[in-house]
Order: sequence, then structure tokens, then C-alpha cells
Amino acid sequence: MTGLMSDADVIARVFHHIDNKTTDLADDVWRQPVESYMSDERFADELEMFRRLPVVFCPSAALPETGSYLARTASGVPILAVRGDDGRVRAFYNSCRHRGMAVAEGRGKVGAFVCRYHAWAYGLDGSLKHVPGNQGFPDLDRDAHGLVQVQAEERGGLVFVTQKEAMAEGALEAVPDIIGAGQTVFDLISFEDPANWELVVESAAEGYHIKHLHPKSFYPYGFDNLNVVETYGPNSRLVFPFRRIEKLRGVAPAERRANGMLTYVYHLFPNARVSMLSSHYQMVIIEPLAPDRVRWDIFRLTPPSRDGKPVDMDQTVKDSDFVNDTGLIEDREAASAIQEGLKTGANSHFTFGRYEKSAVHFHQHLDAHLGMLRQGSG
Ligand code: FES
Ligand SMILES: [Fe+2]
Repeated sequence: MTGLMSDADVIARVFHHIDNKTTDLADDVWRQPVESYMSDERFADELEMFRRLPVVFCPSAALPETGSYLARTASGVPILAVRGDDGRVRAFYNSCRHRGMAVAEGRGKVGAFVCRYHAWAYGLDGSLKHVPGNQGFPDLDRDAHGLVQVQAEERGGLVFVTQKEAMAEGALEAVPDIIGAGQTVFDLISFEDPANWELVVESAAEGYHIKHLHPKSFYPYGFDNLNVVETYGPNSRLVFPFRRIEKLRGVAPAERRANGMLTYVYHLFPNARVSMLSSHYQMVIIEPLAPDRVRWDIFRLTPPSRDGKPVDMDQTVKDSDFVNDTGLIEDREAASAIQEGLKTGANSHFTFGRYEKSAVHFHQHLDAHLGMLRQGSG
């Protein structure tokens, strides 16, 4: 149970905020030491935490059929996920059991994984199926040389991977249905920025910056510093209303629909977020590469089809391009500029105000998880 509000309740709350010039608030201000964004030691702990939590690997829609696979580096480790003959998603370390070559790259659909070094072949369940030149390996125990499996689980239209024994439930504590069965991934893009991953998480965690950082991209359609923010487990959901939500004033509360009137942004602890817009969905995985380097893996998805109508792909691509080519670039530049600014030593800590509720929630849970990790290993 996530206990998230209904569309009608969210919209009523948005109107309350518009009428009162208010927004949802965190209980307290949060001070984050800037060392967090630069420390090699903390970064190593964070990666260990990532590997010991169920972390979003991809949308289920990226693996639509038997044999659909996706290979990507997650929490610093090459991982391969594939949908098996039984419909289940399994995940493996992407490392051949002969001499360690990656057995798959990118995404696609296969009947088996054939290593491109010496062609050892593995089934969709990871089992070793074929070794060319069998006589070269007289004592090979095939059963002991399947791909090494890591835990994979599908929830709410997302695939979660846990690489090592889980230290906590993490995001799985409360995952709502986020991506539906009919939605498809029409593109996957990746790029890197010189910023700490936490800065990128923070960049979409409040609406306090909308007017100033996004004056021509998002602000003309939205509000400044006006959000409904709910938390569920370590996760949170933010609502960014559009100005056109005013049209719903005359609609009976029970008849009000959020579609097209606001954007829901789901943050899934620690490093994934899904933005739901009327014509497209966007799932971002914020991959830590180094204390000052991050990779964005962005899955671009179609929206759910509404009223049985086919999705208008031209509109979907156009709207998704608009977000990625305008507001997202502004957020990326901000995160990179902050990382650069850390070199000044001007700040000993950053202060997150009560307007920045989702960022405060994220840091509270990150601290708690890192504390748990250190206690466990101490
Ligand atoms: S490393 Fe894969 S077959 Fe040799
Ligand atoms: Fe932003």
C-alpha cells in the first residue's frame, strides 16, 4: 500500500495551493555536508548500498517478449536482464564463464547468448548450452558454469535488480503501479555529466526553481514553487501542475482527471524517477560513475492508450524531445555548475528548505541506509 492520493484529491490540493499561494512543505530544513558530493569513501559506500538494495534496472516494457534482453552497467557492474521462456525476467552478471567477456550488449532479442570471443552459448535461463571444441575442456563442469544470476523482480511495471544480499527493502517497500502493460519503450538514450548523482536526484525534487531556472521552458506552462509532494517508504511523488488545470475549476470534483493537467514525478529510491506526461512517459536512471561523474539512462516510453485510441507517436516524440532539449538541459547544466562550484570551498553544507520536501526525504533515507550499511559492516 502506498497510500498515494487520488487524482481528485491531488487536484483539490493544487487549487488550495493556488488560492492560498502555498505549496507542500517539509517538516524541517535539512543541511547536507558538501563532502557528500566529493568523497571517494562515501561514494564507495553508496555503490555498496546500491548493490545491496533492489534498484530499478529498466521498465518491464524494455523486455516485452521471450528473449528480449537489455545489458547495461548498473551500480558500476555490467548486468544483463532477459525475459525467459517462462515469461519471467532473470538478471545475470554480464560476464562469460570462460574468460569473462560480456555476452550481450545494448538491447535486442535473442534465442540464446553466444559470447563473441569463443562462442560459448548460454540459454535464456543462464545455463551453459554449448562449448565449441569440447575436447579442449575435458573436465568442465557445465552445471557450474552457467551465467551467474543476480536477483530480479518485476513490480509496478519496473524491473528491480538486487546484486548482493539485500540490506533492506528499499524502494520495494512501496511501489505503486507506474507503467502499464500496453506501454512501449520507443527509445533509450544515455549521456554523461560531470556531476555527483545526488545532485541529479535533487534537480527534479522541487518546484522552487521553476521560474528562475526554467523561465522559457517549463514556467510558461506551469507554476513556480507549487507542488503536492507525497512520500511513500523511501520514495516520493511530486505533482507539477500546468496552468491549464484552471479549466477543471468548473468540473465536479469526482469528474476531474489529472491527465494533461499536471505531471506526476515518481522518485524511486535511490536513483530512478518516472515522469508521467499526457503524451509520453520518461524513466530516468541516474547511474553513479564517480563522485563527480554521472550517467543518465533515459527510457522514453509511450503513454497508456486512452479511451482505446492509438497513441499519436508524432506528438509523443515531439513532446519528449521538447523536455529533453530544453528543461532537462537546464537541470543538467545546474547540476554540473554546482559540482564545479564545490571546488571553491564556499559552502560547508547545502541547506534544503521546507519547499524542498522530496529532496529532504531522499537525504533522510540515504543517510539512514548508509548508516545501516556502516553498522552492518562495523
Ligand atoms: S570469453 Fe566467452 S567464450 Fe571465451
Ligand atoms: Fe528543473
